[in-house]
Amino acid sequence: MVLDVDLDDLLSPEAIDHPMRFYRRLRETAPVYWNPRWNGWVVTGHREVAQVFLNHAKLSSDRFAGPFGASLSGEASQYQQLFSFLSKFFVWKDQPYHTRVRSLVNKAFTPRSVEVLRPRVQELVKELVEPLRGGTEVDFLAQFAFTLPVVVIAEFLGVPPEGRYQMREWSDDLGAVIFVRGNDADRMRKGEQAMNELVEFLRPVVAARRAHPRDDLLSRMVQAVDGDDVLTDDEVIANAILMVFAGHETTMNLLANSMVVFDRFPGEWRRLRADPSLARTAADEMLRYDGPIRAMARWATEPLEIGGEQIAEGDRVLLVQAAANHDPASFADPERLDIGRRPNRHTTFGQGIHICLGAPLARLEAEEAFLALSRAFPRFTVHEQELHYNPTVVSRSLTQLHITFHE
Ligand code: HEM
Repeated sequence: MVLDVDLDDLLSPEAIDHPMRFYRRLRETAPVYWNPRWNGWVVTGHREVAQVFLNHAKLSSDRFAGPFGASLSGEASQYQQLFSFLSKFFVWKDQPYHTRVRSLVNKAFTPRSVEVLRPRVQELVKELVEPLRGGTEVDFLAQFAFTLPVVVIAEFLGVPPEGRYQMREWSDDLGAVIFVRGNDADRMRKGEQAMNELVEFLRPVVAARRAHPRDDLLSRMVQAVDGDDVLTDDEVIANAILMVFAGHETTMNLLANSMVVFDRFPGEWRRLRADPSLARTAADEMLRYDGPIRAMARWATEPLEIGGEQIAEGDRVLLVQAAANHDPASFADPERLDIGRRPNRHTTFGQGIHICLGAPLARLEAEEAFLALSRAFPRFTVHEQELHYNPTVVSRSLTQLHITFHE
């Protein structure tokens, strides 16, 4: 099929609703491509994307400096609380702040502290499966995909139960800012309000955990020490918000996208039912095949070469993970879903110093969700005739997903 595609329009219906074929065209045209409309380089080759992730020395994550900072300077004075806390998110910083905060948070985020959550995740998933029974149409995004990650991250952090459901709304409003979704002024105003409310809600909780630590992530963050260094209350609050946000929207979209992919490959659903030990590799294959993140951005702090192209100081670079994950140079038969795929070097969690801190938690949630759903339902029907995705360059999120599960 010959497609009439504008390769510069990253928000065209083709790019948003059919990223696999859009980015294949782009990758085949040039794996490192200057996009005048986005005003930066769009990197789609697997090798090149990995190279950029690993080169933190020359490619900055700092959203508040360089070309990204310049475009924010007008808004920062208008939405002070929002920017004050967003600028403490360590994901958007370089060394030394990133290294300092990440090493303090790492101490609180050990694989053991994640694995102990498994029984609770199993219990939650079991509760969430029950209302899906009965053979009627359900809103899968609202009833399952939205709820599981927000409850898990809230409990892990130690957020009081009365705030848990409110966090869904705050997280959604912040998501609109971070993933650049919706009307501009409205999005920023709602983001500022959500940030105000979140900070107001979390400040007394952090103070209480300093006074009386419990067995939760907030307590471990306030207690984390590295020599003389500790996190300030504002740093704990900001990075707890980062976890809520990072742990919520991404995992929700992973669960929803995965059901759509399983619907296209019912043989793989049956394969999982027959062999539940495939849940772990299935989670990674879903992250590769149609993960919740399309792309991440960086900017060059000095001139460098990527895939034979000369990148100038100050240039923006978009790493399209969704394209890299389907690069035939790195994945055999990339358009085929293989829930047992090994090795699977997908880029969905990033690489290098910023590699996703919550990857073990996201995998755990996906595995347990796939296991419980496939055990309960031999088949399911996706109702959308046509699937639509939110128009953003960076995330891959469905606008709605209605499913009937069959027992
Ligand atoms: C399917 C779900 C998830 C995906 C696809 C995902 C993806 C990513 C990616 C690509 C990065 C790297 C960002 C960059 O290089 O600029 C990242 C960083 C991060 N993620 Fe996740 N994430 C997921 C779930 C989670 C969860 C559940 C948490 C829970 C705490 C989390 C917390 C973080 C944090 C704190 C960072 C910043 C790490 C750093 O900058 O050093 N993520 N994530």
